[in-house]
Amino acid sequence: MGPLTRAAEEYLKGETSRFHTPGHKGRGGFAPFDWGELWRWDVTECAGLDSLFEANGPIRETERAYSRLYGTEDSLISAGGSTLCIQAMLALALNPGESLLAVRGVHRSAVNAMALLDLHPQWMLPSLGDKTGLAGAVSPGEVEAALACNPRLKAVYLTSPTYFGAVSDIAALSRICQSFGVPLLVDNAHGAHLAFLPRNLHPMALGADLCCDSLHKTLPVLTGGAMLHVGNKAYASRAREKMALFGSTSPSYPVMLSIDAALGYLEGGFGKDGANVTEQMERMDSLAGEQGCLLPEFPLGDPWRLTLSASPLGLDGPRLGAHLREHGVEPELVSEEFCVLMASPCNIQRDFLRLERALTSLPRGAAHSPKTLSLTLPQQKASLREAVFAPSHPVPLEQAVGKIAGAMVSPCPPGIALVVPGEEIDPDTAALLKSYGIFFIHVLH
Ligand SMILES: Cc1ncc(COP(=O)(O)O)c(C=O)c1O
Repeated sequence: MGPLTRAAEEYLKGETSRFHTPGHKGRGGFAPFDWGELWRWDVTECAGLDSLFEANGPIRETERAYSRLYGTEDSLISAGGSTLCIQAMLALALNPGESLLAVRGVHRSAVNAMALLDLHPQWMLPSLGDKTGLAGAVSPGEVEAALACNPRLKAVYLTSPTYFGAVSDIAALSRICQSFGVPLLVDNAHGAHLAFLPRNLHPMALGADLCCDSLHKTLPVLTGGAMLHVGNKAYASRAREKMALFGSTSPSYPVMLSIDAALGYLEGGFGKDGANVTEQMERMDSLAGEQGCLLPEFPLGDPWRLTLSASPLGLDGPRLGAHLREHGVEPELVSEEFCVLMASPCNIQRDFLRLERALTSLPRGAAHSPKTLSLTLPQQKASLREAVFAPSHPVPLEQAVGKIAGAMVSPCPPGIALVVPGEEIDPDTAALLKSYGIFFIHVLH
């Protein structure tokens, strides 16, 4: 049992009369939600239970255990997902008004945080090289060249793994960042499990300065459970202060307890069970390939994730998704052309069997190719912050040409922001947006 769970259990044993939040007093359970024990465990900062943003008791012990597990300088719990960690990470590494090199395959939480903090991203495209047209890894050479050309860049920010499973060469990127004296910040929201693979691909093991893990995405943790990992000592002393700047003062105890409860499994059999997941998903990947599906060819990929298109078999994404669902399999994503499936050691044998049956019974029709992306980034005419906080209104695309975007447009795939706030909508961008089925966009007044 983890430290926080022990402390909470002690509190529950006391059968205390709760004259504190939450209002359900541990006695919820209104139809149709029973949720069993959950109400009792939904406690707050009572005596002995610690407080997330002033942690010095059992929460701190849990964080220290995670820090040891991931080999970090420090690791801080978030009950507000990676979104909170990304806000804190950017606030730690940069001062308002500063510039950073940011890879365009970026989640909206990062763009929002950059706007809040008045940061100025210089965008770089990830590789779009293979025939799937999906956002791939970041080229270390391009990062090096960008840093060499612009001494005003104070940090490098990227997403790895991407939503489609491409993993960047973090070791090479961190060496480059170190040589320029700038921190490497990694959105590792989809990669908490990478530390448990035989070859440790976690950013903290490969030299990143800061990274976020959405524990809830790939580990057995409740939605919202995440971790800010600090690899560089220089950021350790102010990390909690920055988390507190953006986080709720009422972080969910069930979420934090689930992070604590996962510890035993992560320290024990998780890696061994993970080897089985790797084996099963590699088998699924081979099966999909043998059936003729289109699969990305990332130089380095997340083995627990299967991204596939059945376009060579004549199936678009919704038809592939429907076929998977007919076999009892619900994917993480069904897009126009692709499905993304995520596995973990909590998948049971039956899950893999269903997926195997689905993949070996794909219907066939006339092949087509998914569209690939050719993208020239639009020009930034206002800062992210100015554009996000300025009044804006939606207009049909034809009327948007020559105007400045007030909102981000980031279809997935390709997993790349086609427009971010403050950029001018040029005719090429308008045509590209149309090709993704986007017909309205927010523009500044
Ligand atoms: C790449 C990426 N980064 C960050 C986030 C935000 O993570 P969270 O939902 O844990 O706040 C997501 C969520 O989907 C994501 O896909």
